[in-house]
Amino acid sequence: MRLLSRGAEGDVYESAWDGRPAILKVRRPKEYRDAALDARIRKQRTAREARMIQRAKSAGVPAPIVYFVDVGRSSIVMQLMPGRPASLFSGSRLVELSGQMGRAAGMLHAAGIMHGDLTTANFVAPPGGGPACAIDFGLSASTGKPEDHAVDLRLFREVLGSAHVEEMGGAWDKFMSEYASAVGGRRAGRIAGLVSAIEARGRYASVV
Ligand SMILES: Nc1ncnc2c1ncn2[C@@H]1O[C@H](COP(=O)(O)OP(=O)(O)O)[C@@H](O)[C@H]1O
Ligand SMILES: [Mg+2]
Repeated sequence: MRLLSRGAEGDVYESAWDGRPAILKVRRPKEYRDAALDARIRKQRTAREARMIQRAKSAGVPAPIVYFVDVGRSSIVMQLMPGRPASLFSGSRLVELSGQMGRAAGMLHAAGIMHGDLTTANFVAPPGGGPACAIDFGLSASTGKPEDHAVDLRLFREVLGSAHVEEMGGAWDKFMSEYASAVGGRRAGRIAGLVSAIEARGRYASVV
């Protein structure tokens, strides 16, 4: 099996399921964590990821089909989404992708799902230019709280500001306008206000 990615949490291999292109995501044991606690965390995140990907799909958000889950081995087999992570794009394509990511985030939030790790690396952009596909739901949560949704958006904005500085302004505007079209203008304004408040607190804390 070809190793596609070795992340902080898990290894992702290219695989096949019933003749269809698939990936196998396996969460590796973390040596520094107590073994029993570690096993519990890996199982919990694996189960959560599989469940939340399916919920996201039901809400209409482009996400992989989950083919098989083995919680005991903390592994998931899911549809291989063709393309490359949105984080590898720049310029007008990144701005366009930001709109798609904003729409996806809005649809998730409207369905009461916080992604938990909303970064440009956690969307796969298809080669032909179709909608970006959301992945990596291991830290997601069921919540309708505006404060939780703001945490998602603040992380996304931070990633734009560090990894995509040149596109920052245009990409964030595009992200927010599509987010607003999914959750409504009033709600989007409220969440954006909370994002600014979190950022202001962060700046204050770093000065002190
Ligand atoms: N369903 C998928 N289709 C295509 N590529 C994927 C898929 N899932 C993961 N990947 C690739 O593997 C990388 C790591 O997977 P991810 O779920 O984000 O795990 P991690 O917790 O390591 O970030 C992704 O950035 C992406 O490049
Ligand atoms: Mg990831």
